[in-house]
Amino acid sequence: MTLNVSVIGLGYLGATHAVAMSKLGHNVIGIEPFQSKIDSLQSGHAGFFEPGLDEELKNQIASGRLTFKTAHDESSRNVDVHFICVGTPQLNGSLAADTSYLYSAIRDLAPFLTETSVVAGKSTVPVGTAALLTKELKELTGFEFPNLAWNPEFLREGTALEDSLNPDRLVAGVTNKISEQKLREVFAPMIERGIPFIVTDLATAELVKSAANAFLATKISFINAMAEIAEVSGADASQLAEAIGYDERIGNKFLRNGVGFGGGCLPKDIRALMARAEELGVGESVAYLKEIDKINLRRRDRVVNLLTEELGTLANKKILILGAAFKPDSDDIRDSPALEISLMIQRAGAEAIVHDPIALPGVNKKHPELSTEQDLAEAFNGVDAVVLATEWQEYRKLEPATIAGIANKFIIDGRNVLDVAKWQQAGFKVLALGKTITN
Ligand code: UGA
Repeated sequence: MTLNVSVIGLGYLGATHAVAMSKLGHNVIGIEPFQSKIDSLQSGHAGFFEPGLDEELKNQIASGRLTFKTAHDESSRNVDVHFICVGTPQLNGSLAADTSYLYSAIRDLAPFLTETSVVAGKSTVPVGTAALLTKELKELTGFEFPNLAWNPEFLREGTALEDSLNPDRLVAGVTNKISEQKLREVFAPMIERGIPFIVTDLATAELVKSAANAFLATKISFINAMAEIAEVSGADASQLAEAIGYDERIGNKFLRNGVGFGGGCLPKDIRALMARAEELGVGESVAYLKEIDKINLRRRDRVVNLLTEELGTLANKKILILGAAFKPDSDDIRDSPALEISLMIQRAGAEAIVHDPIALPGVNKKHPELSTEQDLAEAFNGVDAVVLATEWQEYRKLEPATIAGIANKFIIDGRNVLDVAKWQQAGFKVLALGKTITN
């Protein structure tokens, strides 16, 4: 069944969701206040690097089902489901999430809502937000708005569209059958393919997302804590992860040790969960997440300490950082371990030379104090040490024997992706996080 949907907020989540909804066959209006963003989308550019998304965006615009507007108009009255996809970033000076964009989104939407329209929030929010928004909607519409639902999104950057169209599960937090039915209709092609559709109350749906990200962050910090022990005991954290991962109860995913997690989601979401639990009077229940955050940040310090141990001092040294994005196949540098390590090195008196296949425009804009080099072969020229901080394919494929012009053959493998023996044969001293390597 073809429905009319709107997607409010066209950042990572919204742009991907709008394309996915159109691909499912629905008529989609994407709403975003900035004309420049609309112009870019209209010309087939989502505005961030996401493999395959721009191509599919163009296809969906060409299908005639996907259109964009800067604000709601009368056509919004005919929308069956409004998806709210605005950002909920970390508040300045606090661990909590900033939910103000949600409130402006429903303020703009309220004049066009009817008693049968469904509003489905997709943004990651502190548990209890939907209940507050329901009250706000009553004020704004003048009636008891019955159909606010929560439908969290679990997409990963780099595989966003694929994750949206083929998620492990769909979660629908609802308060009545009308909202549930509408969401079932929206996702019908996916439900028919056997994707689990889990119906919950609003609070559970909100918490599912925070809990999933907290669990993922915990797995990564768990293996990084093991890496700290491995580094001082002669053990190998990657082998350890492989061995424990065969136990199906543990699983082998999200157990890659290295410089840790970053990005616009995991770090802010564990902090927001801690802040919300504190507000609810149960701060102790997730107090351990403080430790998860600390273990994660300690991995960044570890790289700087290893460099200092090796080079004596960082003052006046030139250090090449391979990678700036928080993970490969993304140009997102938000809370990126690679970028943070570059800044820490620079603060310690060295010159950080940053290479990344696609994220350098963002680095140059946000951190003009960092030197960047677009040419990978050139980047090694005269450097005293190299840190592999984001596991891009081009770094995995580097041939150490062909690297020329380097002043000092010392590399830290911050993602455990290099063939250490090969690099050693080419005369490099290699330190891989989570391993004790004698060269
Ligand atoms: C994460 C979740 O995986 C998604 O399910 C969720 O929808 C999304 O946040 C969100 O809340 O929007 P994403 O931030 O795109 O997705 O990135 P991940 O693939 O989860 O990676 C996060 C960080 O963990 C990266 O810096 C990555 O390098 C690091 N990581 C991942 C590790 O250090 N080790 C691992 O084993 C896995």
